[in-house]
Amino acid sequence: MKTRITEMFGIKHPIVQGGMHYVGFAEMAAAVSNAGGLGIITGLTQGTPEKLANEIARCKDMTDKPFGVNLTFLPAVNQPDYPGLVKAIIDGGVKIVETAGNNPQQVVGPLHDAGIKIIHKCTSVRHSLKAQSIGCDAVSVDGFECGGHPGEDDVTNFILLPRAADELEIPFVASGGQADGRSLVASLAFGADGINMGTRFIATKEAPVHENVKQALVEASELDTRLVMRPLRNTERVLTNDAVERLLEKEKQLGSDIKFEDIVEEVAGVYPKIMSDGEMDAGAWSCGQVAGLIYDIPTVQELVDKIMSDAESIIRERLAGLL
Ligand SMILES: Cc1cc2nc3c(=O)[nH]c(=O)nc-3n(C[C@H](O)[C@H](O)[C@H](O)COP(=O)(O)O)c2cc1C
Repeated sequence: MKTRITEMFGIKHPIVQGGMHYVGFAEMAAAVSNAGGLGIITGLTQGTPEKLANEIARCKDMTDKPFGVNLTFLPAVNQPDYPGLVKAIIDGGVKIVETAGNNPQQVVGPLHDAGIKIIHKCTSVRHSLKAQSIGCDAVSVDGFECGGHPGEDDVTNFILLPRAADELEIPFVASGGQADGRSLVASLAFGADGINMGTRFIATKEAPVHENVKQALVEASELDTRLVMRPLRNTERVLTNDAVERLLEKEKQLGSDIKFEDIVEEVAGVYPKIMSDGEMDAGAWSCGQVAGLIYDIPTVQELVDKIMSDAESIIRERLAGLL
């Protein structure tokens, strides 16, 4: 399957693995890239330019295929060294960067000067158009169903994707709720040039996370995610657990007076406890409604191959047969 995204990134299949905190290590990115998609290392999980440089080098040892690095710009207690991280990306010879969160304008010039393509992840048509206007090469359009930060507009992909197709000139991938061949075909029908998956890639053999996390995804249904931090306008879709229910209770009690300090226990520093140690009630961790479509823990290669072969038979048999 050839699309503007496979051509732009030099990949075999139009499937991107979005940056994921404490999941997007070299093992994850390399597995996706080796399977023909685009794997992405999460820059801020590494934190420092030195550690990111080391992770990029490790990934290069595991794959000779293109892979990217995610740079997320969100409110943070300690601001990361973005110029240093950009330098590590450039020096490491990475050719694709996924930006996300706030406007990535500060890194567009330096990355483009180094011949790096930028795909910006955003949750609205207006932010997608802004990304296009500041020179991003592609966007990842993230619907309300997505795991992580869906923004504050609450528009699901059934509307958001065709709206993006109506407005954008640069190519985009459909992000949020993507799980299988049906997702890919539907996204292509809406005008996307591929898909971006987060949650689904966590439930794979190679994902470098604790088995408890993978099992939790298999067991979860589409009803098991919650939106937290809405009063702080930093909404995150997470899998429910004891800590999340406690957090929501605090939000209810404190109303608009709530401050980040009130929920530190439930959100700060929880990723290593969940992802590495498998302490499933340690705090809030991102998860999409797509959890309801996760029934197994295949290898990344099996997952990607099945998405592509199912997409092909849906197009050739079911859809062509309707005409
Ligand atoms: C556990 C987890 C951590 C994530 N961390 C990040 C992150 O650090 N930066 C980012 O841009 N997106 C992050 N995301 C969002 C994903 O890159 C992707 O946009 C999203 O998962 C797509 O929705 P889906 O989960 O329905 O596939 C995260 C998602 C998950 C599930």
